[in-house]
Amino acid sequence: MLRLGVWRLEQFFPAAPSQLSSYLFYRVSRGRVSLRLLAAADDQQFEQLMRHVQLANGVYRTTFRNRFHNLDPVVNEVLRANFRPQEKLLVEDWAASACLTSYEWAQTLLPLFPGLRFTASDVALFLIEVEDRRSGDIFIADQDGRLLQFVRPPFVVSVQPPEPWYVPVNRLLCESAKTRWQKSAGLWPLPAEWLDARGEAALVREPYVVRKLPLVHPNAMALARSDARFSICRHSVFERSQTPCHVIRSMNILNRAYFSEVELTQAARAVIGSLRTHGIWVVGRTIDDESSVHDASVFRKGSSGELELISRMGNGAEIERLALDLTLATR
Ligand SMILES: C[S@@+](CC[C@H](N)C(=O)[O-])C[C@H]1O[C@@H](n2cnc3c(N)ncnc32)[C@H](O)[C@@H]1O
Repeated sequence: MLRLGVWRLEQFFPAAPSQLSSYLFYRVSRGRVSLRLLAAADDQQFEQLMRHVQLANGVYRTTFRNRFHNLDPVVNEVLRANFRPQEKLLVEDWAASACLTSYEWAQTLLPLFPGLRFTASDVALFLIEVEDRRSGDIFIADQDGRLLQFVRPPFVVSVQPPEPWYVPVNRLLCESAKTRWQKSAGLWPLPAEWLDARGEAALVREPYVVRKLPLVHPNAMALARSDARFSICRHSVFERSQTPCHVIRSMNILNRAYFSEVELTQAARAVIGSLRTHGIWVVGRTIDDESSVHDASVFRKGSSGELELISRMGNGAEIERLALDLTLATR
């Protein structure tokens, strides 16, 4: 009939707890974790909570510490073979999620290329929390105003994807949240200066209070604050970079599970258009998270804009053929 939700950090268990009362709560609330907890989470809790974040387009934020411990050295060797250490390399990590793997990669690259400029990007760097002051209800949406979750303790209700009808109480709350959400439509678009501002200040638009919920890992945020060579920005894989760069990595995003052939082609064109001549593109997918098995391809852009496959891990990227055919077609 109904499922409760996790709305306080002390209720959050990444795996089944042993104590009976906590275990029972875990069973009736599993999967329904308030994204509001991101704001107060420590490093470890942040990483565990990220597994519960799914964007409105269905893409999960899945990423985790050491995910690329065996990919980074292979890629770094390719870069050492292609660029001189004193080169002022521009490196971009696209669809970087919490930017944790970007942070880890940058740590290994900076000693090799001290003049490096590293940019980690993702289409979503934070979510938006809207509190209705009259009821205390919380709505959590993406930056474009697409509602993801509704929180009214003891319920945490998924709106995207919608709650199934076999938990009718949750589904009715989900439908009512969608209707009420439409009344807040006047909040959008949110002011660009507030979205771009670094601070945590809330935006008050009576009867609503609007806050940002961070999606960037605290380690990556700290590096961006302390080292000007590392930065984080909002960017879509369908857009070209503002400045042509030497290296682009796009892992676990350009997959057929997420995008159509047309979209993948558009993203591949954006990558090629963003690379300098002789630039390197690392693309692929992690096929086994437990043992860090990746199917990835490394391309180099030639002087006529063509891609050359220069290295492969596992079976290579799902879109390896698409990328090579694309360059042949555009020559
Ligand atoms: C599965 S995560 C991959 C994270 C990281 N690259 C890794 O491999 O660990 C996919 C990421 O793609 C982001 N994403 C989805 N659509 C995107 C787009 N159009 N442009 C840029 N990022 C996008 C999501 O926000 C999510 O963080």
